[in-house]
Amino acid sequence: VLHLASRTDPSWVGRAMAHLDEVLLDHAHCEKKAASTAINLIFRYPDHASLMRPLSALAREELEHFETMLKVLDARGIPFRRQKPSAYAGRLMKVVRAGEPARMLDTLLVCAFIEARSCERMQLLSAAFADPLLEKVYCELLAAEARHHTTYVGLAEEIFGGEATAERLETVALHEAQQLAEAYPEDRLHG
Ligand SMILES: [Fe+2]
Ligand SMILES: [Fe+2]
Repeated sequence: VLHLASRTDPSWVGRAMAHLDEVLLDHAHCEKKAASTAINLIFRYPDHASLMRPLSALAREELEHFETMLKVLDARGIPFRRQKPSAYAGRLMKVVRAGEPARMLDTLLVCAFIEARSCERMQLLSAAFADPLLEKVYCELLAAEARHHTTYVGLAEEIFGGEATAERLETVALHEAQQLAEAYPEDRLHG
């Protein structure tokens, strides 16, 4: 279960396919960012030993995904370059409360939803691809992102308990769906 409070508008797929180079480049950047976010949590919360191994493994996996996407870009002749990220993650982070431990719970759940939405969107793209190789790559990636969603929710439950996590999960799910609904359309994975 991905806990998403909304489904992506079907028109997004057509938009993404029409600007596939931009979306694939953005996807590569997203994998890099996912690794960096997991590493940041390792640095921010060294007192939570239970976070270290799962987040280290997750970060490694995201870097592998980054390298996979670099190969996809190479194969399609898309040069890797700097690209303006979508507003999605920044808007999502606005739900994070300032003081600890609330900040930690919220950050874990925001990460969980980025993973969930990525998984949903990759699923939509993989179904739309005409290229069987790209479809295969995406099927593998989206399975991992679903697992990452579960990892982040599981870590939150372990530290904050099932009840507190479930309650906050609902709030973050609604916030995520709202940010997506209100966002200006961009040619990005979360656009
Ligand atoms: Fe990933
Ligand atoms: Fe992930």
